[in-house]
Amino acid sequence: MTGDFECDLLILNAEVYDGTGAPPIMADVAVAGDRIAAIGAGLTLSAREVVKAAGLALAPGFIDVHTHDDLAAMRVETSLPKLSQGVTTVVTGNCGISLGPSPLTRRDTVVPPLDLIATAEEYRYPRFGDYLDALRQHAPGVNVVPLVGHTVLRARAVEDLTGPARAEEVEAMRQDLAEALDQGAAGLSTGLAYPPAKAATTSEVLTLVGEVATVGALWTTHMRDERTGVVSAVAETIDIARRSGARTLISHHKCCGEAAFGLSRTTLAMIEEARGEIRLDIDVYPYTASSTVLIESFARDSRRVTVSWSDPHPDMAGRDLDEIAAFWGIDPMAALDRLRPGGAIYHQMDDDDLERILSWPPSLVGSDGLPRDRRPHPRLWGAFPRVLGHYAREQALLPMAGAIAKMTGQTADVLDLPDRGRIAEGAFADLVLFDPETIRDAASFEDPVRPSIGVRAVYVNGRRAYDGETNEGSACGRLLARSG
Ligand code: ZN
Ligand code: CU
Repeated sequence: MTGDFECDLLILNAEVYDGTGAPPIMADVAVAGDRIAAIGAGLTLSAREVVKAAGLALAPGFIDVHTHDDLAAMRVETSLPKLSQGVTTVVTGNCGISLGPSPLTRRDTVVPPLDLIATAEEYRYPRFGDYLDALRQHAPGVNVVPLVGHTVLRARAVEDLTGPARAEEVEAMRQDLAEALDQGAAGLSTGLAYPPAKAATTSEVLTLVGEVATVGALWTTHMRDERTGVVSAVAETIDIARRSGARTLISHHKCCGEAAFGLSRTTLAMIEEARGEIRLDIDVYPYTASSTVLIESFARDSRRVTVSWSDPHPDMAGRDLDEIAAFWGIDPMAALDRLRPGGAIYHQMDDDDLERILSWPPSLVGSDGLPRDRRPHPRLWGAFPRVLGHYAREQALLPMAGAIAKMTGQTADVLDLPDRGRIAEGAFADLVLFDPETIRDAASFEDPVRPSIGVRAVYVNGRRAYDGETNEGSACGRLLARSG
């Protein structure tokens, strides 16, 4: 508290969603310093800043549980895609890919998909702790929960990435992982569907996830198969989770390719049953198109493929693969090869599966946005408002309070962040003020770089970080490194 004021910020007459999934209540919320000081009707405190919410909704700042913002989070300017959606915390280092430690210890090129988040020059942190130090120095635009990626550890330790790791290579990865966890990593991510990690055996993964379990950290996994093999991939995940005892999060759960449509009935039943005995969760993004590096098998399973970036042909970003192939007079797969290294958006899922997964009460919302893409998938700028506007308000697929819980309280529980994700006295003042009648995504596949509509103000650790149009230019985020 400062001067004669009893609090720093007083938000009057808001429809308060507390993040637990409970229906909203009309209340005033007072913030002192970086924490919520009081909640109640008719608070009469004096405040440095008073905001008349006049019935706008106030929710805990959204937690984006699945991002590739390792680099983007380091700059305030590149945090705008997050802040403009109401996101105040991001989990980085997903899908096996993290900015530290450097994967360039035994090779000088960045193997895909590690190039999704950074160039060889940007992979400049010898150890995981060096990346964390850089984050602390830069002061991130949003709070950061950092994971370390298995594929990065593999690139450092394993000579032949197309084969299983030898015993001493697994041991080298385990030591790197232990060091990263010790330095503050919140957990380990795996990306077993991608070529440089595909050959990892269940036992290799189990050894590493076992290390995660010994310190009570989190394992997130882009599973080995999200197509017709998704059921066996879920079975493998449950097996590793059960045997290791690690808290486990299945990333961006989905069923890709027509032959896999409908399998979410089976996978959700398996996950539900396993939740009776282990800590297992899933996240999902609200679109039926995925996005990642250029991979032939993904393209073959898709209704439509749009190039999102290409190093040799940057001007092709935003154009469909079929159109490019016709333009060049070659086969689409030959065109894909010519565009590499690059990325694409793959339209390859069914609405029914997406809606089943998104409306399943325990699922969490993550964006999986790719901030480095020249023509990004719209999830980068639109995922959270899309759930609230399109799916909760317009389609009534899920209640607004439940949708908010999937981005706040439930997520904080999975991440073990007891002081975030809730509007409660004593919690950190990460807050989003929005209009529940108008909130929606503006980013589309045709026009993907558009801030959402209806988000009026965002506070990170008690400070205003977004005013409804621009970020306020100051870095309000913190590194949320794991301690002990
Ligand atoms: Zn992934
Ligand atoms: Cu991802």
